[in-house]
Amino acid sequence: MATRLANWLDERVGWRPVWEAIFLRKIPKVNWFYTLGSASLFVAINQIVTGILLTIYYVPTPDHAYDSVQYITTQVPAGWLIRGLHHWGASAMVVLVVLHMLRVIYYGAYKFPREVTWTSGVLLLIIVIGFGFAGYLLPWDQKAYWATTVGTRIAATPPLIGNTILLIVRGGEELTAVTLARFFGVHILVLPTALLLLILIHMFLVIRNGISAVPKREE
Ligand code: HEM
Repeated sequence: MATRLANWLDERVGWRPVWEAIFLRKIPKVNWFYTLGSASLFVAINQIVTGILLTIYYVPTPDHAYDSVQYITTQVPAGWLIRGLHHWGASAMVVLVVLHMLRVIYYGAYKFPREVTWTSGVLLLIIVIGFGFAGYLLPWDQKAYWATTVGTRIAATPPLIGNTILLIVRGGEELTAVTLARFFGVHILVLPTALLLLILIHMFLVIRNGISAVPKREE
């Protein structure tokens, strides 16, 4: 019954070649370091799922942000777990993506024909760091407020354009409700869209070019 349904659907939408290209493709003999990309992907999915759940109760205004985070942690069923997974997932993500990049560098997997895969990876790394920076302000506690005060001050250091950058990032001279709204928008809309797009491109290229083999000494 299931096979007949699968065949019926394949004749109409052609899912089988796509499935085979993704899950049944041949890969060279690799080692555990090659799992770091998939581990990054796994944590990215965790961040998306837990992030969506957090937005159910989180309120992005100076009056309510701190209290809503406290409410999530202490009152919402399993809220502490969802927030914990998102909080520690953010750090795990940075560590895993950097380790994955080091594996790529160590094995020379950035070379032809994978230069574009590498470039999409560099953009992914920037996005992951951007997520951390924008997300850090959202609890709106003392640590978040002052860390972002310092972080945005750094954006003002380039000569000539520094102050304009600061005004754009903060939405004014000081850290206010506008800054919080801006960071929230970037954290839940701009960066996720860019992340999903780039992951799609990254994965397409990984499948198209195939995984590189572990380099041999004489190569
Ligand atoms: C959200 C971040 C990222 C995700 C989810 C991700 C995911 C993956 C996955 C699943 C693979 C295939 C398995 C593997 O080789 O581990 C891969 C391969 C690759 N990634 Fe990433 N990656 C990310 C970031 C990066 C970064 C920061 C770089 C480098 C700057 C990078 C460069 C590459 C390259 C060149 C390959 C091909 C490796 C090969 O063929 O041996 N990726 N990525």
